[in-house]
Amino acid sequence: MDIYLVGGAIRDALLGLPVRERDWMVVGSTPEAMEAQGFEAVGQSFPVFLHPTTHEEYALARTERKVALGYKGFVFHAAPEVTLEEDLKRRDLTINAIAQSAEGEMIDPYHGRDDLKRRVFRHVSEAFAEDPVRVLRIARFSARFPDFTVHLSTKELIHKMLESGELNALVPERVWKECSRALMEQAPWRFFDVLTEVGVMSALFPMLTQLPSKETLARAVAVDAALPVRFALTCEYMKAKEIDAFIVQYHVPNACAELAKLSLLIPAYLDCWRHKHAELISQCLSTLDAWRRPGRLASFQLLVRLRYPEHRRQDDQHVLSLVEEAQESIDASQWAKDGVPGQEIGKRIQAARVELIKHYF
Ligand code: CTP
Repeated sequence: MDIYLVGGAIRDALLGLPVRERDWMVVGSTPEAMEAQGFEAVGQSFPVFLHPTTHEEYALARTERKVALGYKGFVFHAAPEVTLEEDLKRRDLTINAIAQSAEGEMIDPYHGRDDLKRRVFRHVSEAFAEDPVRVLRIARFSARFPDFTVHLSTKELIHKMLESGELNALVPERVWKECSRALMEQAPWRFFDVLTEVGVMSALFPMLTQLPSKETLARAVAVDAALPVRFALTCEYMKAKEIDAFIVQYHVPNACAELAKLSLLIPAYLDCWRHKHAELISQCLSTLDAWRRPGRLASFQLLVRLRYPEHRRQDDQHVLSLVEEAQESIDASQWAKDGVPGQEIGKRIQAARVELIKHYF
């Protein structure tokens, strides 16, 4: 049996980038032979094994054939006679279809190294069309490697996939996974730009009618903002209805969904500070749940600063101290002990917060 290093590890090494994860391909072996050597079988639908000591993934060379729409529509063929070239051919992009032998020799039948030099994403074969996630992968890789472009022939193939309805087979979790990973890359705006360029944006994200500004997202990258902040910025120009549609369609996790919805409060937040209206400020902080969760207020404030860089940071710090002081100084538990009824406690808390705000400004 022969073992080759394949996929992203080779691509990243050739680009001079740190290798995060190594995937191996095994040619000329069988599941039984792998297990006899101490490998542990982990693949549910195809033969993938973990190395007994390194725990890296080793997959038997295989071919795939699509027999029906969707993820369960694949049949795999893994057998000792499947060749290295056959396995590389079923892969998505030429830059991901380069292998390296144990002796260090590069096997590159689809000219991935040329495409790396030319900075081109090009599909290996028509088999690309069998997995719609690959369209999103191209967009995500564009966010990671912003100077790459999509080859014309690949754009044409994607267009055919759109026409044939193959993109409808995408499951929400996979879309969110690629989208969220892209948002964490160095040029997140490229994800949406490239989806637009290849013509699938309105099919996949009809609610994103106006794209987030590159400048805003770039500021988020520069401060290494967390995913919820980057997602909320993506929703910069969306209405409440559109944000909800995105969240529901792609099962967006809570932390991201919450902050995106809160971002709709930014104009009201800026307004009430401008007018220094204590009751309104108190209400606004309640809507943000800031009195109880200063951490969330901090994420919201970062969002405000990224969208409005002219907004004064000192004001944000002022508000944070205000909220922290309210947590320390307003002690409802004593009122409860004194037998003050719940509703009255609520009112007293509100009044104490308003007083504190007035004192602050
Ligand atoms: N692959 C593919 N089609 C997919 C997913 C993966 O052809 N939909 C192939 C590619 O050859 C890829 C390899 O499987 O290089 C490993 O996939 P994965 O680990 O998901 O991605 P990487 O290319 O390693 O990229 P990343 O750095 O983002 O993990």
